[in-house]
Amino acid sequence: MRQEFLKIQITYGNDMIKEITVRNYLPYMDPGQTDDEILSGLKGKQKYISPKYFYDAVGSELFEEITRLEEYYPTRVEKEILSGLLDMIRINLRNLNIVELGSGDPSKITLLLNQIPERLLNTINYFPVDICEAEIIKSVDILSESFPLQTITGIVADFNYQLHLLPQQGTRMFCFFGSTIGNFTMKDAENFMRQLAKIMNPGDCLLIGMDMVKDIDIIERAYNDSRGITAAFNLNILNVINKTAGTDFDSRDFEHLAFFNPQRNCIEMHLKALRDVEISLKNGFDTIKISKGQTIHTENSHKFSYDQIKQLCAWGGFSRYTICHDRKGWFSMVYALK
Ligand code: TRP
Repeated sequence: MRQEFLKIQITYGNDMIKEITVRNYLPYMDPGQTDDEILSGLKGKQKYISPKYFYDAVGSELFEEITRLEEYYPTRVEKEILSGLLDMIRINLRNLNIVELGSGDPSKITLLLNQIPERLLNTINYFPVDICEAEIIKSVDILSESFPLQTITGIVADFNYQLHLLPQQGTRMFCFFGSTIGNFTMKDAENFMRQLAKIMNPGDCLLIGMDMVKDIDIIERAYNDSRGITAAFNLNILNVINKTAGTDFDSRDFEHLAFFNPQRNCIEMHLKALRDVEISLKNGFDTIKISKGQTIHTENSHKFSYDQIKQLCAWGGFSRYTICHDRKGWFSMVYALK
């Protein structure tokens, strides 16, 4: 496959022009596959939309707002751990290639880079990977101003299908923050770890954030904030689907629903129909009927135990790992070595 190197020019008000490098692999995804994925999810009995469709430019902004909410503890606690992490683990930073999966905004990697002296920073290459191009451009732009890294290359890709396209060079540290692994089903989390086991080489390492099992009220509050940002974020997925698959959802026909499922130790996010609705599809022939009270499942957010961390590391073929957590044990950062 040909690698797409795009030089994107950012023009500032005073005619200053800056060039950043972004590789966009999304065009290599089969558009038919995308439509099929969306439609088969909507046609089933328990309707489902993949959470990757949350993150268009609006969704990414809303999610950043969520991460700043008082109720949404995961980001706050993870950042607390990240800001002192390099004192807790032993890692050779020289010539490291940092690949951050689902990077979103650059605030987390910034906390890590802040702990690295300049003489090492300029030996490090950083590759943020995200499905949202707007986020990648913004992130590369900001980081290139703030840190004297050797290179920063943005990668727009779907890590569900395109892990094999990630940079192969040198020693790599994969970062997978935000407990995004918890958004997979357990089966998919297993597959993901086994995939990582295949693409990672001896010497490579993984830094993965996991939200831990805790008091249910604390968890449920994090997904039902009082200002309704979480609701707006969940509902925005319908606008993204309209653009992507040509449906005609009206987000006012649905409401946000998030509850803890104790059997599976996860928060389930749904959109619940407030009335009977009929959605028409791009091809104009088919429609999808959703009756009042029926839900579309949009995301799971699993909370982990120490035993599950051990299991995930075993699937990933990691022989050694260190768990760093906050004082209350709400969130864990696992540093696993190949
Ligand atoms: N990955 C985030 C999480 O599991 C996503 C998220 C936060 C989310 N709040 C949400 C998804 C509300 C849907 C609705 O914590």
